Amino acid sequence: MILPMSYIDTAHELYKKAALSPQVSLCCVTNKARYLQELVVPGVMEEMNYGCGTTVHFGDLNPQENILYIGVGGGLEALQFAYFTRRLQAVTAVDKVPEMLAKAADNFKLAAELNNWFQPNFIKLIQGDALNLPVEDKSVDVAAQNCLFNIFEEDDLNKALSEMHRVLKPGGRLYISDPIAINPIPEHLRKDERLRAMCLSGALMYQEYVDKIVSAGFGTIEIRARRPYRILDKQCYALAKDILLESIELVAYKNPIPADGACVFIGETVIYFGTEETFDDGKGHLVQRDIPLPVCHKTAGNLRALNRNDLFITEPTYHYNGGGCC
Ligand SMILES: C[S@@+](CC[C@H](N)C(=O)[O-])C[C@H]1O[C@@H](n2cnc3c(N)ncnc32)[C@H](O)[C@@H]1O
Repeated sequence: MILPMSYIDTAHELYKKAALSPQVSLCCVTNKARYLQELVVPGVMEEMNYGCGTTVHFGDLNPQENILYIGVGGGLEALQFAYFTRRLQAVTAVDKVPEMLAKAADNFKLAAELNNWFQPNFIKLIQGDALNLPVEDKSVDVAAQNCLFNIFEEDDLNKALSEMHRVLKPGGRLYISDPIAINPIPEHLRKDERLRAMCLSGALMYQEYVDKIVSAGFGTIEIRARRPYRILDKQCYALAKDILLESIELVAYKNPIPADGACVFIGETVIYFGTEETFDDGKGHLVQRDIPLPVCHKTAGNLRALNRNDLFITEPTYHYNGGGCC
């Protein structure tokens, strides 16, 4: 019996072709591959940068950690993670498409010729499915995916996020870069399997995406960046108006979700400029006078609701880089 093709098969076909002949414009990257001292990126890996944004946040990484990367593509980000770990098999990279794994393996051999510090076996390549990871529970410090989860329909996205949560150690971190949509993408585009596979029509809106991550059990989320990614224009895509896609970069921590909801940092900061040395909100936030304190969205809302004329709470920047208090 021949089973009908699913949207997942369409995606696998697309990425099989993208492995066999690299397609420079397949995903429109919003970041150039960054250059680090001693890291020479093979040209083919740059051509195969099928992500949007980045999941490699240099300031966060600890070389002792083990990293799981889902959807390896040409291997650029797995190589960047290995740049930090520099240990045998410290990075595990999973992909469902055998041709993509084979291409990534070739690319790592090329990378080893160009980088004295690198050995291909710093990265363990495994064939596997984001929806059923071949990885033990609570075994990973850092997990990452770039431009894969947006391809999944809702139930599969829930499964993929819960798989990431399952394999992370308590306190472990999930790094995501993915497209999000500023307006809802209509059904006729969401059902278009090819556009979905090309990371153009499966994107959720910001709040929906964050809610899914919280529902998977992540108690703290930091929005590191939101950047313009693509326009779905009304002529080409039969829309009432153009839709802006952004790439979102975030890190989600496998922390317990507080009783009053997850802490989501979106770049809001409180400044106290009153007459005392400090302002205490009675909920664990002690704000030093004239010292900006980044706070999570929940706390920013609570502080705004106090309506004090000696507290200033900035608008979200969606570019948060730590130092805050939930
Ligand atoms: C848009 S590409 C992104 C590649 C890479 N992350 C990057 O940033 O260049 C999606 C990748 O996910 C892989 N993939 C597709 N479906 C998958 C699945 N169900 N499980 C694991 N990998 C999958 C594809 O083969 C491809 O390598």
